[in-house]
Amino acid sequence: MELFIDTAEIDEIKSLNITGLIDGVTTNPSLIAKSGRNIIETIEEICNEVSGPVSAEVTATDFETMIKEGRKLSAIAQNVAIKVPLTFDGLRACKVFSEDGIMVNVTLCFNSAQAILAAKAGASFISPFIGRLDDIGSDGINLISEITEIYDIHGFETKVLAASIRSVQDIIDSAKFGADVATIPPKFLKAMYNHPLTDKGLADFLADWKKTGQSIL
Ligand code: E4P
Repeated sequence: MELFIDTAEIDEIKSLNITGLIDGVTTNPSLIAKSGRNIIETIEEICNEVSGPVSAEVTATDFETMIKEGRKLSAIAQNVAIKVPLTFDGLRACKVFSEDGIMVNVTLCFNSAQAILAAKAGASFISPFIGRLDDIGSDGINLISEITEIYDIHGFETKVLAASIRSVQDIIDSAKFGADVATIPPKFLKAMYNHPLTDKGLADFLADWKKTGQSIL
């Protein structure tokens, strides 16, 4: 399973990328707005830092402008994945970009019918939004499970990218139900390695070790 980081904050990305565990980055217009920075400069910096796919989202809603925006974003670096919304025009743009060999992440997916269309349009990634479904009393993880099952049955190569993650449990469940990728906000990535029993166990080991008076080096 690949782990992407869901942020446009370059300092956060750099500080987590030194682990060697970051396979890619996703951004969206809200994350760019939150960073307060220019989208082109930000995506360029992220692409210089991370060699895996970096999603940059178009903001136009009509096909022609989406194509222009997507081409501009794609020219930033080879590892840019153009993010398009799961709309009629977004799917048309996805087909064009994918036929040109450009990676596409189809975003704002909320049911399996949408995911089938994205796969048929040649998307590299489909982004089902777990948290936003849970927020309205629906079942986000069930959607991940349904899409992975459908894609497996029909041999679609589009990767299922679990998005809108709200907890560490969402990441575990996404992995369990076959998501190829989870895109994770930095605070949950940090929370993934934390466990109170790890901390306690380490403190106990070190206390016992101190009593020996030994040093490995
Ligand atoms: C990433 O690709 C998505 O845009 C992001 O995960 C959405 O998360 P949110 O629902 O917390 O805004």
